[in-house]
Amino acid sequence: MTSSSNCFFFVSLVVLLLFFLGSTLTMASTKDIDSICNSVGNKNFCQQTLTAYPPAVSATNIAKLVKATLDLGMTEAKKRAGFVAGLEKEPTFKKYFKMCNESYTSIVLNFRSARLEIEDNDSETASYDIAVSYDDTNIVKDTIGKNTDKASKSLMEMTLVMEDFINIAFVAVDKI
Ligand SMILES: *[C@@H]1O[C@H](CO)[C@@H](O)[C@H](O)[C@H]1NC(C)=O
Ligand SMILES: *[C@@H]1O[C@H](CO)[C@@H](O)[C@H](O)[C@H]1NC(C)=O
Repeated sequence: MTSSSNCFFFVSLVVLLLFFLGSTLTMASTKDIDSICNSVGNKNFCQQTLTAYPPAVSATNIAKLVKATLDLGMTEAKKRAGFVAGLEKEPTFKKYFKMCNESYTSIVLNFRSARLEIEDNDSETASYDIAVSYDDTNIVKDTIGKNTDKASKSLMEMTLVMEDFINIAFVAVDKI
């Protein structure tokens, strides 16, 4: 072999090695992500979301993955709480503000509690806290679901997606 083909062979070997190493490292969480998403209503959304969320992809065990789904749910709830906060003075939304603000504030708190309870190995209480978040999304849906103004329509869309995040967290906590 010439030295350049030697070199080519060596580089190929290294690339191949890195490839295998990389796939075994991510294997554990791929399997865990599948096991969660297979039990979630919106399977495709779950797969797309978790495989694009670095803390979920890099989770090396199911407990870390569960915590990642709770962090994700909390982040998403905070985003929506922030959106609602911006509607306080919106004339068409004013009379729905209080209910929606309270509901989203409550979802953020539920996720925060669940996250702490998982830390304390109390997955049963965590599971309960995640589940009651559906009461809050239902209040939002009952409050603004029939409205035709832009703010309500946006918040309705965001609330339906929020339920997908709640579903992911609820299923995940059950796997711990
Ligand atoms: C939103 O709701 C929370 C919880 O009830 C409350 O503490 C907060 O003051 C409310 N925000 C506004 C702007 O009313
Ligand atoms: C939760 O469980 C883990 C693993 O069994 C243990 O290391 C940890 O100390 C426990 N935490 C609490 C707060 O009980």
